[in-house]
Amino acid sequence: MANKKELRIGMIGTGLMARTHSNGYNRIRDFFPELEYRPVLKTVCSRTEEKVKAFAEQWGYDSYETDWRKVIDRDDIDAVDICTPNDMHAEIAIAAAEAGKMVLCEKPLARSVAEAQPMVDAIEKAGVPNTVFYNYRRIPAVTLIKQIIDSGKLGKIFHYRANFLQDWTINPELPQGGEALWRLDVDAAGSGVTGDLLAHCIDGAMWLNGAIKDVSAVTETFVKERVHQGTGQKQKVGIDDACIFHCHFENGSLGLFEATRYARGHKALYTLEINGEHASLRWDLHNMNYVEMFDHADEPVTRGWKKVLITDSDQPYMDRWWIPGTSIGYEHSFVHQVADFLKSLEDGVPCEPTFKNAMMTQKVCEAVINSANSKSWQDTGL
Ligand SMILES: NC(=O)c1ccc[n+]([C@@H]2O[C@H](COP(=O)([O-])OP(=O)(O)OC[C@H]3O[C@@H](n4cnc5c(N)ncnc54)[C@H](O)[C@@H]3O)[C@@H](O)[C@H]2O)c1
Repeated sequence: MANKKELRIGMIGTGLMARTHSNGYNRIRDFFPELEYRPVLKTVCSRTEEKVKAFAEQWGYDSYETDWRKVIDRDDIDAVDICTPNDMHAEIAIAAAEAGKMVLCEKPLARSVAEAQPMVDAIEKAGVPNTVFYNYRRIPAVTLIKQIIDSGKLGKIFHYRANFLQDWTINPELPQGGEALWRLDVDAAGSGVTGDLLAHCIDGAMWLNGAIKDVSAVTETFVKERVHQGTGQKQKVGIDDACIFHCHFENGSLGLFEATRYARGHKALYTLEINGEHASLRWDLHNMNYVEMFDHADEPVTRGWKKVLITDSDQPYMDRWWIPGTSIGYEHSFVHQVADFLKSLEDGVPCEPTFKNAMMTQKVCEAVINSANSKSWQDTGL
């Protein structure tokens, strides 16, 4: 380990994503031993001392802070990792970039395009390495889909469709705002399923199939009022509980997207499908190690959809893990993103999606919300 360069991490947040990212950093030594950089869990921050102290002990951080500004002021931090609710991303990212720190940020970049633009500007001005955790790109099956599409095997693309279905907010008694439920509070989240779930589908769609030019959307807020955990009062719900949109891609194909937290029975059903002239591909998060493919070039008598298990060592990332036939999980997508970030430092290239790239998804999300509110088609500006 002596010849390794240290990348000293300052983690902001101790929730779900702080756990997935911390696990990502901790797996590098064992599974990507050739990388020049070795992450060092230097400090972690959240507002409650008892909670952050326990998190630091559990995940192996050297120290903890209760004010994120102290993390940025510290000379022994190289990279700030932002795992806080959406309303905190901009302030932290801009301060970190201005202090010359590398910035890793959770998605969506911010609550709006106007809030995200100064983040991109600060990052670009500082010239610091950066990445945004649209981590589904790094599930081996999804990466393989990208490789197959880029090989030209599908020919001309006609359709792209994606869903992200959940069911956890159906109960009208569920409050909004504060710990754990900030996603239901429009002030903290910026939007509902559009920024939370569709952002992943949009990032994946544009990575796989190119830019989205314009959108036409409908949204619905099924539960109009919920008690706010901050005030204890019933307040209007400002988020979109469900969103459906269709769109034109730059390559001439049509897109169809749906996200909801009201699809009883579905927990995190992200599905994507792409239909080309010669072949189609589909994938879903509940069967994340499989790619389904229909190839029209197959022998007509046995032609049909085939389901391919993606665990062989010549498939993306899989040479790092176990033996063919044994699966990996959700957490590995974060390990892969950390590994790719470290490799990008070695190679001096950006680790996609960068802030600049994630701005494209932000623009589509905003066009979707504007379209639903104005009941009209909206250009994305891409
Ligand atoms: N990439 C993905 O698949 C994915 C999945 C879930 C969440 N996310 C994103 O990750 C971010 C965090 O989501 P989460 O699910 O981890 O949320 P969470 O509610 O589990 O955790 C948020 C954390 O931020 C901390 N926090 C809030 N305000 C703070 C402050 N002022 N200073 C320091 N800490 C503060 C909270 O204490 C908590 O530890 C969000 O932007 C979300 O959209 C991404």
